[in-house]
Amino acid sequence: MSIYNVGILVGSLRKNSFNKKIAEYIVDQEESKFRYSLIDIGDLPLYNQDFDDEGTPPASYTRFRQEINALDAVLFITAEYNRSVPAVLKNAIDVGSRPYGKNSWDGKPAAVISSSIGALGGFGANHHLRQSLVFVNLLTMQQPEAYIGDIESSIGSDGKIESGETKDFLHSFKQAFEQWAEQFITNKGQD
Ligand SMILES: Cc1cc2nc3c(=O)[nH]c(=O)nc-3n(C[C@H](O)[C@H](O)[C@H](O)COP(=O)(O)O)c2cc1C
Repeated sequence: MSIYNVGILVGSLRKNSFNKKIAEYIVDQEESKFRYSLIDIGDLPLYNQDFDDEGTPPASYTRFRQEINALDAVLFITAEYNRSVPAVLKNAIDVGSRPYGKNSWDGKPAAVISSSIGALGGFGANHHLRQSLVFVNLLTMQQPEAYIGDIESSIGSDGKIESGETKDFLHSFKQAFEQWAEQFITNKGQD
């Protein structure tokens, strides 16, 4: 059985991040042919094109680009900051998209989950993120959408996702994403 590697990028560096808890829940699910792992974005210096133009990318850029290149699919799970994408996640997208002509995201299937302590579930971040994903040519699943509001109430005293409703939603989202992703992965190299 082929194994497909999915990288999860979390749009929050907070140690008790609710979005990270969603990511950890997905990583912990029973293994299918899709294997999920967290990709670190917290050590990427703010993107400066000089690094690439002068051939001196930081080691963390090189590590990150190699990790993205090796993925079959990408899952973004993000907080919303001021109705948009947290800067740390936008920075990671920029780093992965360069140097010019070496866009690590190109043609990979992707999906977006946003969550918030507020009622709107990070809708603004989710859609601003999608704008960048179009440009870097990630093939982002359109439906189902995932805006998880009042995320704090889904977390149990052990710090893990406890709400049955949220778990059920994440299961069905994950299934839809795997179907979406597989059609592009299995078509790879058949042109
Ligand atoms: C700088 C900042 C801006 C925020 N802006 C929003 C916002 O626009 N919409 C929203 O629903 N929550 C906003 N929040 C609250 C976040 O939903 C909340 O901090 C949440 O816990 C962040 O996700 P995390 O738990 O994964 O870190 C903001 C929080 C911070 C720190």
